[in-house]
Amino acid sequence: MQVKIVIGTIAFMLTMIILGYAALREPERLEHFTHAREGRTIETGAKIYIDNCSTCHGVAAKAEECYDAGGELTGCQGVPLNSYWLVCGDQPEQLVNARFEGTKEQFIERTIAAGRSGTVMPAWAAQFGGPFRDDQVKDVAAYVLNFADDDFCSVEPSRFAWPEAVADLLVMDTEEFTAVPGDPENGAELYASTYGCSSCHGTIDEPGSNTQGPWLGDIAEVGATRVEGQTAAQYVYASILNPDAFIAPDCPNGPCTSPSAMSAGFGSRIGANSPQDMIDLLVYLVGE
Ligand code: HEC
Ligand code: HEC
Repeated sequence: MQVKIVIGTIAFMLTMIILGYAALREPERLEHFTHAREGRTIETGAKIYIDNCSTCHGVAAKAEECYDAGGELTGCQGVPLNSYWLVCGDQPEQLVNARFEGTKEQFIERTIAAGRSGTVMPAWAAQFGGPFRDDQVKDVAAYVLNFADDDFCSVEPSRFAWPEAVADLLVMDTEEFTAVPGDPENGAELYASTYGCSSCHGTIDEPGSNTQGPWLGDIAEVGATRVEGQTAAQYVYASILNPDAFIAPDCPNGPCTSPSAMSAGFGSRIGANSPQDMIDLLVYLVGE
């Protein structure tokens, strides 16, 4: 009898120790599991990215190097996703520019799911007529969000300080940037591909090809009439840097809406790539 009680007690205590140990390890095990799952999500997302998004958003999502389906180097139609302004901090600048109220996760998932109407960014979620299930949208969003690592986000990229007057930009000669005369051919390429202006404004030689913003084929004349005291070049320059400064009257589907449907992020983007791009765009659009 005594022996049975002793054995029973020891067995009970052993069971408790084993259970207790397992309980103690549980959070660690769960965390490990979560990491493994996150890792898989990002990996799946990376594959989805390469197959579906890299033609526009480019190698490593930098929108610098894009290849078409045949493997030929083409211009990038998309914007950088591997971008400080999209993924770093709680309220990255792109959310602010888009006046989005919510988290960056929501912003990125929603943009992927619904696309951007009026631009070439397609809707991807089945709910919006796209090919992806919700978990695939989440996976590719996780891939994008994964660019926000501590190293990448620790230094804010330097911002080019755009002068107020376009005339000052055209003759700028500082340590940071020396202006050279604009190249309209490169301007055309920037307009159509690098910055995707044509996805909203249409092609310059085809009136009516614009889908969201005004057609810009006659902006060299019209631009000079928009704001008292501004030349066409100054007006176009100011419109790119701050679309809300003046809202154009007529958009393809009625009056242009305020705030502007045009992103306020072009200034940072062009400044980060090369301020010369602005000069090339201007020479292409207004000839100076
Ligand atoms: C046909 C070209 C194209 C393809 C393919 C494409 N995108 Fe885009 N995407 C764009 C363009 C252009 C924009 C910018 C739209 C604008 O002007 O607001 C954009 C914007 C975005 C944005 C918002 C970025 C920001 O800074 O606001 C995200 C996120 C995004 N795309 C993710 C994706 C993902 C993920 C895929 C693949 C599943 C994808 N895109 C495929 C063209 C494309
Ligand atoms: C997402 C669509 C979109 C993209 C991309 C876009 N814009 Fe716009 N843009 C608009 C809309 C909408 C307006 C009209 C509202 C306003 O005045 O801001 C506009 C207005 C303008 C105007 C003033 C037009 C006028 O008739 O007064 C200029 C100039 C302009 N954009 C240049 C550009 C350039 C250059 C790019 C590329 C670097 C670009 N936009 C990219 C949508 C876009």
